[in-house]
Amino acid sequence: MVLGVLGSGSGSNMQAILDAIDAGTLDARIGIVLSDQPGAFILTRARQCGIETGVIDCRGFRTKFPDEAQAEIAARLQAAKVELVCLAGFMRLVKRPLLDAFPDRILNIHPALLPAFPGLESWKQALAAGVAETGCTVHFVDAGMDTGPIILQERVPVLPGDTPESLHARIQVAEHRLYPAAITRVQMHLQGT
Ligand code: GRF
Repeated sequence: MVLGVLGSGSGSNMQAILDAIDAGTLDARIGIVLSDQPGAFILTRARQCGIETGVIDCRGFRTKFPDEAQAEIAARLQAAKVELVCLAGFMRLVKRPLLDAFPDRILNIHPALLPAFPGLESWKQALAAGVAETGCTVHFVDAGMDTGPIILQERVPVLPGDTPESLHARIQVAEHRLYPAAITRVQMHLQGT
């Protein structure tokens, strides 16, 4: 299965997907990596692995993902023969026409046990709420903010003395296990096995 990855940051989840492919636990390849941030480390990592990359031109908008840009990205993903789109730390809301181009084929990883703590910096939300446990979620993307159907979740404890950084780091370790496992689950479903 050909994956397309969209990310805005360091790309550690993309790296975890690549590691799972290398280890033979995920039967896929990453066909293209796209970012709205030209300097994002996710693009450097991808180039180092010989993966096609591209920058998403968001027309100067800081947070919006304009329709024209979404249409361009849909075409670029299709040209790379992408079958499943994985958002990995992508900081813009996906809407039509990208959703229409890949119906039920866009996944996202979120650093909380959805529906708890949607939106930004969920690990800080979890600390502020004083919960004993948080986690991470891989879900299908719909037009809402972190609202699509859940595929897999993993729990992560909040420990005494946790800082936002220590909690986020523990959640990311879980994310790196969860994302490849969730992709495999979707792949099995799509292939009817
Ligand atoms: C992850 O914590 C993910 O849950 C969130 O953004 C972060 C991306 O990290 N959506 P990375 O770029 O994969 O290292």
